Amino acid sequence: MKREREAAIVSRANGLAAEIRWLLGLSLSAILLFPESSAPADVSQGAQIAATCASCHDPTGGGQGIPPIAALDEQTIVKAMLAFRASESPSLVMHAVALSLGDDELAATARYLADRANAGRQP
Ligand code: HEC
Repeated sequence: MKREREAAIVSRANGLAAEIRWLLGLSLSAILLFPESSAPADVSQGAQIAATCASCHDPTGGGQGIPPIAALDEQTIVKAMLAFRASESPSLVMHAVALSLGDDELAATARYLADRANAGRQP
């Protein structure tokens, strides 16, 4: 039975290693995504929030079923977000996302995304 115990320990260790790699990856991306910077507060705030949008909205403008927001202008984003905030229709998810952002955060995020689109980079 020693072999089975060893196998169990090894597989547990592998699981732990995977968890640690995941955690390290997470903190590394936190450092990469949210660096301390001398940028104006609302720009870095917009960048931080926009990073959370990227988990669903493909930053390269593609996306499977989720509309891209990479090329939208500031007003379009703000208007869409206010509509999402006001109603669960058509999207419960975006309703929740929009509710989670205050007016300032929303404005900073829209400005950040639109600036990136204008600069020809991918948000
Ligand atoms: C959990 C996934 C998810 C996250 C996170 C998310 N979105 Fe969305 N978003 C969606 C989905 C799904 C839709 C499509 C809703 C619909 O019209 O049915 C959408 C639609 C939109 C639209 C409308 C686009 C269009 O052309 O119709 C905008 C603008 C938008 N999201 C902005 C954002 C912003 C800004 C953030 C970050 C603060 C964000 N989203 C975060 C899933 C997400």
